[in-house]
Order: sequence, then structure tokens, then C-alpha cells
Amino acid sequence: MGTHSYRPCYHASVLSGWANDPNGLIWYQGRAHLFFQHNPKEPRFGQMYWGHMCSQDMVHWEPLPIALSPTEFYERGGGCYSGSAVRCDEKLLLMYTGSTLFRQTQCVAESQDGINFKKSPANPVIRSAQVPRGFSRRDFRDPKVFRHEKKFYCLVGGRKGNTGDVLLYCSADGREWHRAGTLFQHDPLKICGVIECPDYIDTGEGEILLGSIQTKHQEKSGFPNAQTAIYIPGRLDLHTGRFHHQGRYVPVDYGFDFYAPQTMALPDKRIVMIAWMNLWGRTYPTAAEGWAGSFTLPREISCRNGKLYQSPIKELCAYRKDPVRLQNIELGKNSATQIDGVSGNKIELSLTIKTGGALRVGVRLLKGPMHHAEIFYSRADNAVVFDRSRSGKQIRGREKNVDTRSCKIELQDGLLKMRIFIDVSCIEVFINDGQYVMTGNVYPNLEVDKEIEFFSESESSTVVSLEKYEIVNPTKDCGKNCL
Ligand code: FRU
Repeated sequence: MGTHSYRPCYHASVLSGWANDPNGLIWYQGRAHLFFQHNPKEPRFGQMYWGHMCSQDMVHWEPLPIALSPTEFYERGGGCYSGSAVRCDEKLLLMYTGSTLFRQTQCVAESQDGINFKKSPANPVIRSAQVPRGFSRRDFRDPKVFRHEKKFYCLVGGRKGNTGDVLLYCSADGREWHRAGTLFQHDPLKICGVIECPDYIDTGEGEILLGSIQTKHQEKSGFPNAQTAIYIPGRLDLHTGRFHHQGRYVPVDYGFDFYAPQTMALPDKRIVMIAWMNLWGRTYPTAAEGWAGSFTLPREISCRNGKLYQSPIKELCAYRKDPVRLQNIELGKNSATQIDGVSGNKIELSLTIKTGGALRVGVRLLKGPMHHAEIFYSRADNAVVFDRSRSGKQIRGREKNVDTRSCKIELQDGLLKMRIFIDVSCIEVFINDGQYVMTGNVYPNLEVDKEIEFFSESESSTVVSLEKYEIVNPTKDCGKNCL
């Protein structure tokens, strides 16, 4: 195993075993709670539990005991699948899917202290009989509960034939539920299979529906990943139980590894989103270290003109160290430039690049003698490209191409702005003030792949401004195996 580990330093990750979706995000009794889909027994998917951690700043997370274990008849086979949390009579109420091999139902568990949970004897609280006719009872999952004007509402992902819908349920007390409509109806050409982990957000300036979908036919769907988290701008009418929209399905993230995002509101009203930083069917090299599963940075989200904007949670700034600030760095035509003090594998790197006439201009990250990951602007495609084909250990997946992703952008005055976060084995790129984000895992040689190189092809370009910080989480032995 060696002394080095792919464990990120300032991203949340499972200590041992497996993790996928973030669940039950909530601010409760003075701290943020992050529950997650968890197999404590081995670093691969299995019977699901709810793992648990908490944090005051959503950067440094403390592990807590497992919150839910599959002990009941309605959980046997699959386990305690994804769900969400809500405050109910000062208690913390978790709502989750009890998954057996044949059916999925919705269940609740509650806690006074936010740590120890008791499942309701009335479980399941939304049973198969409450699934509308024509819908699958086997694919009926991932309740997202919220309150509105003294009532509780909950979205559940459903499937009718091959296509997914989002169903709406309503309750006066969070415990007894009835159907309140079909909130969202599929477009059979675009969404096949159940819509996993639905979420609804009202930012004040705009409303969106979030969903995570299987996009089996990548060529047809236009989505390059086998699973994609999408958002749909629209307007929710709780009286009719419908979400009005124009059929615009937009990827939440344009990278490789982003699924099942969930949101929560902070006491100061910011809305924060966290996603599983991986996908189904990929190789998981960290399993060799006994763990598999990490989460994106919490992202503050906002909505303007039907577009979602994301920026890393501002608390992260407190972890910055050793700033390097530079201006007007000329990148010569077809040159490769390294800059003193600009390297590292646990860093934040902000760049404003005047792209000029260069065919490609960008950075090689986590560079060593054999490897690097490239993030660059391609003029021919008018896109930012993330290329991890030479970044280290080979990654395989259900997709033909797991090596490159691109994201079309609009440049203003030829300027490209990127905030890049590198954390040992993951890279998150926030483009043009969070208008687009690209997230991906990479598995470099941890001892030597730490350099950064700037390049400009066919013509010269200028890095108008550069800011680089080490991100130091003093309580975590970054990049070392802390198991
Ligand atoms: C999404 C998902 C959910 C399900 C959970 C099981 O990644 O498939 O639909 O509840 O994972 O772990």
C-alpha cells in the first residue's frame, strides 16, 4: 500500500468501505450533517447503510457512527437507500428508501440528538399501494423531503415503462403521507429509467428541479457519461403538484465524476450542493487502500436567467496558505512554461487567460515525468477540455470515452476565467465565475506528479492574472494513508 494515499485532503471521503450518494444534508443543532450511502464491509457496492459525518464549516468533517443499518424486512436485500432530512418538532427526521429485491418503499427514522436514530414502527410510510398505477414498485426511490407553509412535501423518483417521472407526496406531520401529483413527466427521448435523487430548489431568483439519470445511449442523448446529473429550470406549483418547465435539461457538471447531487440551506440562507464524486461502473483505484467514495466540494448555488451558477463554499478560503499572485505572464507560441512557486497537489489555482489567437491554451496539472492532466481552451471547439488520458492509472467505465470531456463556453473579451481545485486525486474546475463546472478523478504517481505547466499552441497568449494557494487541512494528514 505504501505511505501515500489517494485520499483527498479537503474533500469529504469515506474512511473505509464504500460510499456513493450524499444523503440527508441538513444544518441541525449548530452543524452540517452529511449522511451518505455506505457499505461498511468492503470498498464496493453492497447492502446499503447510511454513513454519517458532520462539520461546522463543511470543509473539515468529523466521522460519526453509522446512522441507519438494514435491519428490517423492508430493507432486506438492498438496504437503506438514498434519502433526505428535515426538521420535525425539533427532531431530525430522515426519510429514505427501504430497498428489497422486489420493492422499494419510503421510510422514516428520527433522532433527538442528530446521532442516534430510531426507525418508525409505522414504516414503510409510503408503501407500494401508494405507487400510482402503471409505475414500477421496484424502482421507486430517493425521497427528498421539504417543508412549505406548515406542510411536508416529498419528491420520489419513479419509473413507468422505460421512462422516469418524479412523483409528489404530501404530509401534515412528516409521518403519514398521501399522493399529491406527478411533479415532472419524462421526455421519453431524453430520460430513460428512474430519475434518481430528485431535488427541488428555489433560490429566490429562480427554481430548478435536479435529477440524476441513466443516459445509456450517450451518442443519442448528447450526454457523454453513462449517468448524468441534470437540472431543469421551471416553476413549481404545489397546488396542482406540477413543475412547469420548457424541457430544457442541462448537465449540472461537465466533467467525468459527478452524480446524485443534493442541496441544503444554511442558516444564513446560502444553498449548498454536494455530489458523489464518481460514477457507477468505473474503476475505483482507491479500493486497494480499503476505501472508495468521496464527495465534491460543497458548492454555493444560485440561479440567474434559468442558469445555475456554482461556486466553492466560501469557508474554504480559511484553509488557504502561502499565496502566490502574479500578473501578465506571457506564454510564448508553442512553449511550455513552469512558474516558480506554482505547483502542488493540494492547491487552488485561479487563472484569467487572454486566449488571443491560440488554438489551445491551458495548463498541465499533476505533471511528472510520465503523467499530467490537461485543462485547456480549444478555439476550434470554443470549449474548455479536460483531458485525463495521460494522468496516471487507467480508468475504465461503461462509456467508450472516459478520458476527455469538453464544455462549450462563451468568452467575454476573449478572457477565460478558471478556478481550479486540485486535491490529491481529484480536480474541480469552476469556469467563468461558476457558470460551468468540470469535475474528475485522476490517479497520478503521488510521489512525483505535482508540477504545473502552462502552454499555448500556434500563437502566444497571456495569463492576465494568477493566484495560487496551498489548501491545508491541518487536522488531516493530507495525501497520506490515515487508515
Ligand atoms: C443513485 C442510487 C440511488 C439509490 C442509491 C443506492 O446513485 O442508485 O437511486 O438510492 O444509489 O445506493
